[in-house]
Amino acid sequence: MRYSLLAGGKRIRPVLALGTARAIGRPSRWVLPLAAAIELIHTYSLIHDDLPAMDDDDLRRGRPTCHRAFGEDVAILAGDGLYAEAFALLLSRQAAEPADLLAAARELAAATGVGGMVGGQFIDVAGTTAEGPAGLRHLHELKTGRLIAASVDCVLLLAGFLEPARMSAFKAFASELGVLFQIIDDILDVTGSSEALGKPQGSDERLGKRTYVSEFGLDGARRLAAESHARARAELSVAAPDGGRELEQVTDFIARRTF
Ligand code: IPE
Ligand code: IPE
Ligand code: MG
Ligand code: MG
Ligand code: MG
Repeated sequence: MRYSLLAGGKRIRPVLALGTARAIGRPSRWVLPLAAAIELIHTYSLIHDDLPAMDDDDLRRGRPTCHRAFGEDVAILAGDGLYAEAFALLLSRQAAEPADLLAAARELAAATGVGGMVGGQFIDVAGTTAEGPAGLRHLHELKTGRLIAASVDCVLLLAGFLEPARMSAFKAFASELGVLFQIIDDILDVTGSSEALGKPQGSDERLGKRTYVSEFGLDGARRLAAESHARARAELSVAAPDGGRELEQVTDFIARRTF
């Protein structure tokens, strides 16, 4: 668990949680337990995603993947353990009104379950992505989008933040950001280098995955990423008219990243 978690990584999801707290006028340190729990869950998903039965990759965060270093049995358990420890951490360390904490925990479970990350991973490995752009968007929304969106939404739930117009703009922003993130991930799988990415370049093509690049070509995927970035920024300007500087920076980083 420590080997994979502390290998480094961009920490985009926890930083989003901290940025969201700031955007609604709360100190970022308040949501550190939630932010850490989300990173534990994300790391579990990477360990399992790399297993031979899934993407069968040997490199992650610049190191041999967990199963290459410790064996498949230990890697499966490391992932299972990280998932459980994430909820133990959230429910024992996160300060909030009990009803708000429960709402956030429920959202985190839903975002990572069958209607979220695991459901998306299933569509991805089973190759049942529906034809056309709507099918791909649905895959991205579930596989990657829901956990990224939860990094924003769970903070709003913890805070009991209920201003309807801003709440729906935050939700639209978070959901767009998740899709943008995975479009760029698909592009970098083609254009990046294994060294910069810290994971094997070309994994999607080797596995015949349906991605934004396989569907629309590189230029098409880049155009859709630019549109998605513009939509995310527009939603953010409604959600956080004056407190969203850090979220703007994360949004731009997600669109322009090279690793
Ligand atoms: C990679 O996520 C897996 C996807 C959901 C596409 P990241 O690119 O955030 O991975 P790290 O945390 O920086 O290693
Ligand atoms: C994995 O998507 C998403 C999750 C881990 C839930 P990918 O298979 O595209 O991620 P990478 O490219 O291996 O990081
Ligand atoms: Mg995968
Ligand atoms: Mg993968
Ligand atoms: Mg990928």
